[in-house]
Amino acid sequence: MKVLVAYYSQSGNTEKVAKAIYDGLGFVEKDLASIKDKPRSRKYDIIFVGFPVHNHSVPAVVETFIKRIPEGKKIAFFATHGSLRGGELAITAFYYAVSLTAKKQVLGTFGCRGKVKPKMIETLMKNPQDKFWALEAQSASLNPDEGDLEDARKWAWWMLMKARAL
Ligand SMILES: Cc1cc2nc3c(=O)[nH]c(=O)nc-3n(C[C@H](O)[C@H](O)[C@H](O)COP(=O)(O)O)c2cc1C
Repeated sequence: MKVLVAYYSQSGNTEKVAKAIYDGLGFVEKDLASIKDKPRSRKYDIIFVGFPVHNHSVPAVVETFIKRIPEGKKIAFFATHGSLRGGELAITAFYYAVSLTAKKQVLGTFGCRGKVKPKMIETLMKNPQDKFWALEAQSASLNPDEGDLEDARKWAWWMLMKARAL
């Protein structure tokens, strides 16, 4: 099985998780690529797609990448977000990502928190649309941490096992 770990990251949080996922896959044929470099997904069996949650959703460049993944591929989504892990605000983005995958198989999702610069939080708190996730993001200043990265490594391995069993 050939695996692609494709990620989009602006401030480095999602990139850290992508690298942990890549490591967690162990000795399998694999590549790690930034979505900014427009990687081709056709030659892979499993595609991990990682993104930062933006405005409760998937950044446009990642949406385009997901839509271009050929039918029949197995996909696993991972994301970082300032809001609480498992919270509705982050989960909404996963629902949206999954809604873009007609005729592809979604293996699973993994989310963890990612720090947001204090200056940005300050600005966002003034905007009613961003106020709630920005409030939650105040306690993510150390994420992703080693615990998050270890979870990501384990999750990647389980996704691989699942893909092999299907
Ligand atoms: C423009 C913008 C919008 C964001 N919107 C959300 C959001 O709706 N919910 C949330 O939990 N975090 C949001 N965040 C925080 C990021 O998802 C978080 O900091 C993430 O870890 C950044 O990942 P990166 O370093 O890979 O870019 C937003 C960040 C930016 C820059």
